[in-house]
Amino acid sequence: MSPRISEEKIEEIRKSVDIVDMISEYVQLKKQGRNFVGLCPFHGEKTPSFSVSPDKQLYHCFGCGAGGNVFSFLMELDGLSFIESVEKIANRTNVELPELESGQKDEDRYGEERKYWYKGHELAAKLYHHILSATDEGREAREYLRKRGFTKEVIDTFQIGYAPNSWDFLTTFLEKRQLPMNEIVKSGLLAVREFDQKPFDRFRDRIMFPIWDRQGNIIAFGGRILKDGNPKYLNSPESEVFNKSQTLYSFHIARPSMRKKNEAILFEGYVDVTSAWRAGIDNGVATLGTALTEAQGKMLRRNVDKVIICYDSDNAGQEATFKNAQLLEQLGLNIRVAQLPDGNDPDDYIRENGSERFVQNIIGQSLTFMGFKFRFYRKGKNLNDEGDRMEYIQQVLTEISKLPRAVERDHYLRQLAEEFSLSLDALKQEQVQIYKSHIRKEKHDQNNRPLEKKMTVRPQKKLLSAHENAERILLAYMLQKREIADQVQEKIGGTFNIDEHQAIAAHLYSFYAEGYDSNLSFFIERLNDKELKQLATELAMMTLNEELSEQELNDYIKQIENYPKKIQINELKLEQKKAEESGQVEEAAKIAMDIIQLEQQLKNSIRNDL
Ligand code: UTP
Ligand code: MN
Repeated sequence: MSPRISEEKIEEIRKSVDIVDMISEYVQLKKQGRNFVGLCPFHGEKTPSFSVSPDKQLYHCFGCGAGGNVFSFLMELDGLSFIESVEKIANRTNVELPELESGQKDEDRYGEERKYWYKGHELAAKLYHHILSATDEGREAREYLRKRGFTKEVIDTFQIGYAPNSWDFLTTFLEKRQLPMNEIVKSGLLAVREFDQKPFDRFRDRIMFPIWDRQGNIIAFGGRILKDGNPKYLNSPESEVFNKSQTLYSFHIARPSMRKKNEAILFEGYVDVTSAWRAGIDNGVATLGTALTEAQGKMLRRNVDKVIICYDSDNAGQEATFKNAQLLEQLGLNIRVAQLPDGNDPDDYIRENGSERFVQNIIGQSLTFMGFKFRFYRKGKNLNDEGDRMEYIQQVLTEISKLPRAVERDHYLRQLAEEFSLSLDALKQEQVQIYKSHIRKEKHDQNNRPLEKKMTVRPQKKLLSAHENAERILLAYMLQKREIADQVQEKIGGTFNIDEHQAIAAHLYSFYAEGYDSNLSFFIERLNDKELKQLATELAMMTLNEELSEQELNDYIKQIENYPKKIQINELKLEQKKAEESGQVEEAAKIAMDIIQLEQQLKNSIRNDL
């Protein structure tokens, strides 16, 4: 169980990075007092309850309870193992890591296998890219891409390649590299023949788009057929590392720019992303031929405040725009919608009209979500027809009534009144009516919503009782100051009333006994239990006074020591009552004596203080 990289090394790596810098790459943080706060990346929220302490090098979310140090942050967010998170930071900060012998990584379950998966994909991408860029076999594909406006820069940046029309081209290549073929098949890179389980090339005669994970490892491919045929795009099957619903095409390429601009552009297809990149739009991503998911929305939310959706102008594209805009808005993102002329997708438009017009007239003229809805509901309606017109007005009013701000509602109501020469007052009245019936419906829905949905955010902590509070404060001091832990250990040892507190105290005593000085991050990292880790982080993040006086320390200890006596007194009182009721006079008197004695002890403990 002990880490195979020495503890000193792990400490060195942890200290090589500042937690605020690192988390800032994923979460927008604002300074607040001594800490930094932001929206928690681990659960959906609109008001920040995620806090990062530069002094303690820890983070903690008061909403969902997530917490820990730089390593646990990467583990939770990117789904890395502990060793992977250590490696990732070491690579980033150039701390040299000892070469790990094989077997050392067995601790991380998929370590070895996954290395092969990444390796296989990496080699395949290089090979395909080479075939496309520099061989005779790639000439036709090269020509095709040239006609479509792909430059060498785009082809290199996105590592676009070509898979020749062969059943064993890649298979033979990988076999020669002596990669374990069963792993390569498991990774989805190769397919297998049903009757003899022999691997063969999945992608043939296709333009190959590598798909990366958030760290920039290639985990899959999207292959576009060179000539006509079906399917137009063939994607790798899902695997342990490739989950379509949690991957966005080009995310790791776009991320630095997304963060800088605080804005992302969402496209429908690979080619739209690469064409827009050529036009200077370097913060574009796309889903992988499937509907946008909440997980993908959250990936965006962690990096930007604003998303511009730029989909095909066809019906399917507009319907998807509506749905995705709604999903992203619910995650707290600010939405704009770029509108293309009929029959165009972004790639067509750029080819026909040039980069500049795309950037200025399409992206630059994006509509607000409301502006988009005004247009969207118009589709398929004849506004000269009274029925259609009334339906349209009703739909738009419904949308307006969902706007939280009065000025906004007013703005759109005026726009509507003007366009259809209607009385503003009448529209307002109508809108208020819609709002009221909407509220009624919402209340009804809320009451009938499944319990699970209601509980997404952890309920506010109940008021703490005196002894629980005392234990938490003492532990917080003990975590930060070794001397206090020593004093507490001497006075009460491990007799905390709450089990989890007892456990943390025990771990802490042994940590100090090993000769360590206070080290919050390191201590928390060594705790194996996730719940304990979270609790310890929460305690470590508490803000304390610089000094803890002798008097205060004793008060807290007394709270802790007295609690069991209070419980005992309460129990005895119950017994006494029972004895009295059943006529056991002697027994009742005996119990009464015990109670008096305990109460005396309690009183003395307080009097000694005075
Ligand atoms: P489109 O059919 O709009 O293709 O599909 P496109 O992006 O315009 O591609 P070109 O311009 O014809 O080369 C949009 C996206 O849907 C997914 C792909 O991700 C594609 O980029 N798709 C489409 C598939 O996964 N499979 C398909 O068969 C078709
Ligand atoms: Mn296209």
